Amino acid sequence: MPMPMASSTHLAVLAILLLVPLSTARAVLPSSNDDDGGSAKTAAYTKVCDASRFAAAGLDMSRYRYCDAKLPYGDRVRDLIGWMTVEEKVSNLGDWAAGAPRVGLPPYKWWSEALHGLSSTGPTTKFDDLKKPRLHSGRAAVFNGTVFANVINSAASFNESLWRSIGQAISTEARAMYNLGKGGLTYWSPNINVVRDPRWGRALETPGEDPFVVGRYAVNFVRGMQDVDDAAAGFNGDPLSRPLKTSACCKHYAAYDVDDWYGHTRFKFDARVTERDMVETFQRPFEMCVRDGDASAVMCSYNRVNGIPACADARLLAGTLRRDWGLHGYIVSDCDAVRVMTDNATWLGYTPAEASAASLKAGLDLDCGESWIVQKGKPVMDFLSTYGMAAVRQGKMRESDIDNALVNLYTTLMRLGYFDGMPRYESLDEKDICSEAHRSLALDGARQSMVLLKNLDGLLPLDASKLASVAVRGPHAEAPEKVMDGDYTGPPCRYITPREGISKDVNISQQGGDVTIYMGGINMHIEREGNDREDLLLPKNQTEEILRVAAASPSPIVLVILSGGGIDVSFAQSHPKIGAILWAGYPGGEGGHAIADVIFGRYNPGGRLPLTWFKNKYIHQLPMTSMALRPRPEHGYPGRTYKFYDGPDVLYPFGYGLSYTKFRYELLNKETAVTLAPGRRHCRQLSYKTGSVGPDCPAVDVASHACAETVSFNVSVVNAGKADGANAVLVYTAPPAELAGAPIKQVAAFRRVAVKAGAAETVVFTLNVCKAFGIVEKTAYTVVPSGVSTVIVENGDSSAVSFPVQISFSA
Ligand SMILES: *[C@@H]1O[C@H](CO)[C@@H](O)[C@H](O)[C@H]1NC(C)=O
Ligand SMILES: *[C@@H]1O[C@H](CO)[C@@H](O)[C@H](O)[C@H]1NC(C)=O
Ligand SMILES: *[C@@H]1O[C@H](CO)[C@@H](O)[C@H](O)[C@H]1NC(C)=O
Ligand SMILES: *[C@@H]1O[C@H](CO)[C@@H](O)[C@H](O)[C@H]1NC(C)=O
Ligand SMILES: *[C@@H]1O[C@H](CO)[C@@H](O)[C@H](O)[C@H]1NC(C)=O
Ligand SMILES: *[C@@H]1O[C@H](CO)[C@@H](O)[C@H](O)[C@H]1NC(C)=O
Repeated sequence: MPMPMASSTHLAVLAILLLVPLSTARAVLPSSNDDDGGSAKTAAYTKVCDASRFAAAGLDMSRYRYCDAKLPYGDRVRDLIGWMTVEEKVSNLGDWAAGAPRVGLPPYKWWSEALHGLSSTGPTTKFDDLKKPRLHSGRAAVFNGTVFANVINSAASFNESLWRSIGQAISTEARAMYNLGKGGLTYWSPNINVVRDPRWGRALETPGEDPFVVGRYAVNFVRGMQDVDDAAAGFNGDPLSRPLKTSACCKHYAAYDVDDWYGHTRFKFDARVTERDMVETFQRPFEMCVRDGDASAVMCSYNRVNGIPACADARLLAGTLRRDWGLHGYIVSDCDAVRVMTDNATWLGYTPAEASAASLKAGLDLDCGESWIVQKGKPVMDFLSTYGMAAVRQGKMRESDIDNALVNLYTTLMRLGYFDGMPRYESLDEKDICSEAHRSLALDGARQSMVLLKNLDGLLPLDASKLASVAVRGPHAEAPEKVMDGDYTGPPCRYITPREGISKDVNISQQGGDVTIYMGGINMHIEREGNDREDLLLPKNQTEEILRVAAASPSPIVLVILSGGGIDVSFAQSHPKIGAILWAGYPGGEGGHAIADVIFGRYNPGGRLPLTWFKNKYIHQLPMTSMALRPRPEHGYPGRTYKFYDGPDVLYPFGYGLSYTKFRYELLNKETAVTLAPGRRHCRQLSYKTGSVGPDCPAVDVASHACAETVSFNVSVVNAGKADGANAVLVYTAPPAELAGAPIKQVAAFRRVAVKAGAAETVVFTLNVCKAFGIVEKTAYTVVPSGVSTVIVENGDSSAVSFPVQISFSA
């Protein structure tokens, strides 16, 4: 659609709730983080508490204790809120917050996105237009930013330090944009919903199907975005004062992963979910994001969970997020999720005022609304700001609930230096955007994520010096930016198509060289937000073309697949004339170079699939709307993800990925028994397969046991081939075989290591017994089962080593 926000998050909502033509959406209000839209220029300033800024508005800053940097944040935030009228308070509950200029508080736009680089989505981040350069207020123009490979790519690297480095690079660019008046401080990324169903349109935005891997991605990305380099600076140990480089946000909470599947839309979808699946799968990454990542925001989702809209569910928000996990930050709604409760998925017959009140009461702090739509120079306000006062007047909304929301919001802004500045970042500017270091990180990240799925007789890598030319075919040979960059993106610093990347190594012939490289796959017409897939196949004519090209080629061809989700390429897996298959995801601005580096052997691929590639047959066995992870024999539904599906319809399993070299694992110094001393009252029951009888104390509840016990072992990763390379070591645990309903196996740890040809590297693993061997029982208790669990260390080529671990409990 030809819209200013072509990659906008909420196109579907936009389309259904459109109030004004989008051509009017470009106007910008002056605010602290964007002052270059109007004709009257406000002076640039970097902090709210600037005495000259107050003086210019006829105010004396010394009267406002909220600007007294010597006071604790808590006192300052209470002071600020104390100055505000209830009308002013309500006008700050939406993403385009009005501020309270009367008492010195400027407007603030909360909505920025940074899924895999700064994104133009939302009203805040503004890149300059290369076609119409305008220099504002003497500030440099910024036309583009570093676009990293999509998240599903980065996930395939299984490299935690890469994930953190990407977060660090993005937050540096974000700070630079903020300093230039072109961006905000609060970013609604990452997207950490587990890919439960292979049809989900947003797989490309996520780290895949394993809740633990997704959670580790969240922790690293969030820490990269948020953590201040020198944590000592100004930090007194109170998590609510911990400085933030930028604020990250884990979304979409919870059980959200149906976008639009044959008319089942996310706005109306009621996810029927068991508590076991909530704990084990849907909430786990969020728990890790909040507890281990200390994320400063969480976004609640559109859908309902067991009948209740996620953004009005007090148990999910105030209960689990804030009380149980101790969120230090704010909770924001997905955009228009509150409006949807009354306009679309009529909930309890609530009026707009009642839905607003219910959301706030449940723990929501901020409503993302339709602020990207601007009418007569003003944004169309979000729902809470629009109906909040009515709710107050009708006695349905407590002012103290509003105050609590504002405390969470302004505390976050204080931690970001919005009030006091943050000198360490104030010198960042356009030179820090698209820097050489960031561009090479984007290239390196794209290379690390390439997954080699097939390599018959070592067809790859190609030796460019021995080729007169190659033929490059297929719809993605000249893939446009919007295919390579995927969703939630801004303009890239540089853009390299696959053909351009390859042409640096060899001449490309139209007629066909010795070798043909076919660039296939799908694109965002098939998988994206608001659009789930109907099947897992390539377009029919593309399959036909690949088969024709393969048949006509004198030697086997190379097939490169661009996609977020898995593709059923069964026809290619077994085809003797399709010699190699390389999955390139959507590899970002530097993607063309990354693909060429792998094809010509400058980089040895080490990525592994972060989700199962199913055969298309699989999706005919269960509807997308069935949320259960385990098989449902009563309906004939198979299980979901590698944890619960072991049927025949897997093309390439989770964790699959080959290399140009051969890795072999040797287990060293393994511990094979561990005893926990839990005490009788921590015993829980377990479900056993028929015929099995459990011991007296079958399992221990991990929530009530301190659990310092560990199991350690070393894996020697031997590079037994002729090429240097990187290998991601994936460690799984499998629960005792006699248990019923337990996962087949689950990832407990992973580490990517580089190993020179002929050498070996030792990787030390220390597994916490509760975290690594814990399973979620039918009762939704997380327990450690007694008996023999198994540790399995799997190589990407499906070979594995394993050893048993006997877990017992002492009295
Ligand atoms: C992991 O990523 C980092 C980039 O942040 C890179 O320097 C390192 O080499 C990668 N590790 C491996 C084993 O590939
Ligand atoms: C949502 O509600 C709006 C306003 O009532 C309506 O125009 C729109 O058609 C609805 N959309 C859906 C998908 O039901
Ligand atoms: C990115 O911006 C720079 C100027 O900063 C410009 O030279 C370059 O052409 C832009 N890149 C793209 C792909 O538009
Ligand atoms: C491309 O072909 C030209 C001759 O047509 C040759 O001079 C050149 O070396 C070739 N380039 C590569 C990269 O093979
Ligand atoms: C397949 O058909 C579509 C729609 O007609 C067309 O746009 C596309 O180019 C075709 N693809 C191939 C590989 O022929
Ligand atoms: C693993 O190896 C390290 C050093 O290579 C060694 O210090 C350690 O004791 C080993 N761990 C175990 C459990 O043997």
